[in-house]
Amino acid sequence: MTNTLVTGGNKGLGYETARRLIALGHSVIICARDREKGEAAAQRLGARFVQLDVTNDASVNAAAAWLQQQPGGLDVLINNAGIAGARTPVPDVTAEETRVVFDTNVFGIVRVTHALLPLLRASKNPVIVNVASGLGSFEAVHDTSRIESKVAALAYCSSKSAVTMLTVQYARALPEMRINVIDPGYTATDLNHNSGTQTVEEGTDAVVKLATIGKDGPTGTFQDRAGVLGW
Ligand SMILES: NC(=O)c1ccc[n+]([C@@H]2O[C@H](COP(=O)([O-])OP(=O)(O)OC[C@H]3O[C@@H](n4cnc5c(N)ncnc54)[C@H](OP(=O)(O)O)[C@@H]3O)[C@@H](O)[C@H]2O)c1
Repeated sequence: MTNTLVTGGNKGLGYETARRLIALGHSVIICARDREKGEAAAQRLGARFVQLDVTNDASVNAAAAWLQQQPGGLDVLINNAGIAGARTPVPDVTAEETRVVFDTNVFGIVRVTHALLPLLRASKNPVIVNVASGLGSFEAVHDTSRIESKVAALAYCSSKSAVTMLTVQYARALPEMRINVIDPGYTATDLNHNSGTQTVEEGTDAVVKLATIGKDGPTGTFQDRAGVLGW
């Protein structure tokens, strides 16, 4: 049985990722910062639940300690939790606004990964999937045929570029693990007030694919549902 943890699993892409991985036979633990929402979602999914706010060291450490006591350990970590931040015109964005977005989207991944690496190291096939965005891809934002080239979001886009680079760094440092980063594609969720053009099923194709790879699977890649994406 593959034991899989999804951060931000109470709704949106995280919830759909959990639903699909459970259907594929994973034992899934969903995390949410809000206990009530998380427990309700876990019950609907048939998942386990642990409270986890990716911006809070004590919360992450408590979740890691709880996981240590769980049978089966941890095989797959999906760093999905993320926020869009305020819709401020680029020249008006403050350092504080940027810090808030980075605290969730970037430092959150480091906080959670750092706390859970000892558990992943004990797995026979440790896998990490980080959820970035095409908005963090330098190639996509420079391609005028792509929607990413029309979006101005200083904190969000730069935070997602940081997610791609930290994935490369982890993948190089931990060759015994499969560590990849994905772009879900523009998907209707609360993050974009449901303006996304993809369904959550389409938006989770890449994360599900990379969460289910074996030891011979890729590592250090950036992918969307169509395949490899330019950095
Ligand atoms: N939707 C898209 O088009 C799209 C495209 C590219 C990338 N993404 C990325 O996909 C991921 C999932 O986003 P989504 O579209 O599913 O958005 P969503 O529906 O807003 O879900 C975001 C999830 O992250 C959780 N979260 C936020 N801050 C957190 C924190 N401090 N600690 C723990 N959990 C936290 C939210 O919890 P609450 O319910 O408590 O807020 C929620 O469960 C994000 O990383 C996002 O950047 C989305």
